[in-house]
Amino acid sequence: MSLPIEHSLWHPVCDARQVQEDPCPIELLEHALVLWRDQNGVVCGLHDRCPHRGARLSLGRVCQGQLHCAYHGWTFEGQGQCTQVPALPHFKPGPAQQANAVAVQERMGLVWVCLDPASAEQAIWPVFAAEWNAGMRKLNAGPYDVATSAPRIVENFLDMSHFSFVHDGWLGQMGHSEIPDVVLTQSEAGFKVTNAQVWQPNTSALSTEGGMVSYTYEVNHPYSAVLTKVPDAQSGVPPGYEESIVLLIQPQTADSCRVWFRMAVSDFEVDSEDVLAFQDKIFSQDKPVLESQQPRLLPLQTGAESNVASDKASVAYRRFLQNLAVTFGVC
Ligand code: FES
Ligand SMILES: [Fe+2]
Repeated sequence: MSLPIEHSLWHPVCDARQVQEDPCPIELLEHALVLWRDQNGVVCGLHDRCPHRGARLSLGRVCQGQLHCAYHGWTFEGQGQCTQVPALPHFKPGPAQQANAVAVQERMGLVWVCLDPASAEQAIWPVFAAEWNAGMRKLNAGPYDVATSAPRIVENFLDMSHFSFVHDGWLGQMGHSEIPDVVLTQSEAGFKVTNAQVWQPNTSALSTEGGMVSYTYEVNHPYSAVLTKVPDAQSGVPPGYEESIVLLIQPQTADSCRVWFRMAVSDFEVDSEDVLAFQDKIFSQDKPVLESQQPRLLPLQTGAESNVASDKASVAYRRFLQNLAVTFGVC
């Protein structure tokens, strides 16, 4: 039986600084996992279940880079290989004593996991082009815990018609709620929304006045999206200023997630506290609405929710999830 697509994706699971030598329990796609750092500083990850009697490996301790189970002391190296059964000092453990490993990488200040190590090389990453732009400063906002599904969070990120209601006085304003038609194009791995224009009273942490902002959205991973916004110089931002934000989600369960925003801003002067405070403020406005949406899982059947022309990006996102046969977080 083939694994669901969600197992062949890279997912962020925690801030990289959070994983030190001690075992760190995390949850991803309803799987309990344990992470730790070995002696070379490499993050290792296993399913949080000892192959011996099913105890949680995260209750154990790390000694010389290897994880010792708290129950009978079986010892595991980072790829899951059992190296020692203390009750049998002369026994050579084999594959039957092996713990289940996951693939782990560090990127963008976060630890990432792919549940299926065999497909990790081909597994899908969120593409964030601004990451490689040396002229843009990178900051991570979050994490934010949200009691809803990852697709509801992505869809909200792609939705501009809530700005003048949920973000009144910030990203939108009553009386400026019309959303002109956007251009939707299919890309190799997903889709792109361009020509999205919106008037914002407070375009970013740097703005001093309201102004028009051009948005571009890109989606190429089921639980992630990138937005690039270029405010009009009128809003008081420095000429040529732009920012790009990638939404990164750890789906812990089908309807609970942890969220980060990786931000790239073309300004090195603005206080990072201000940029992060702005993002915290915006997300604190989104969160109660997101958590109120019923059902929490994103409905994919046609007609389950009412779509109008200004929901073009969200309709494209639902089609994208269907084409990829995503099953986690949708209904
Ligand atoms: S349950 Fe882990 S060593 Fe026995
Ligand atoms: Fe919002």
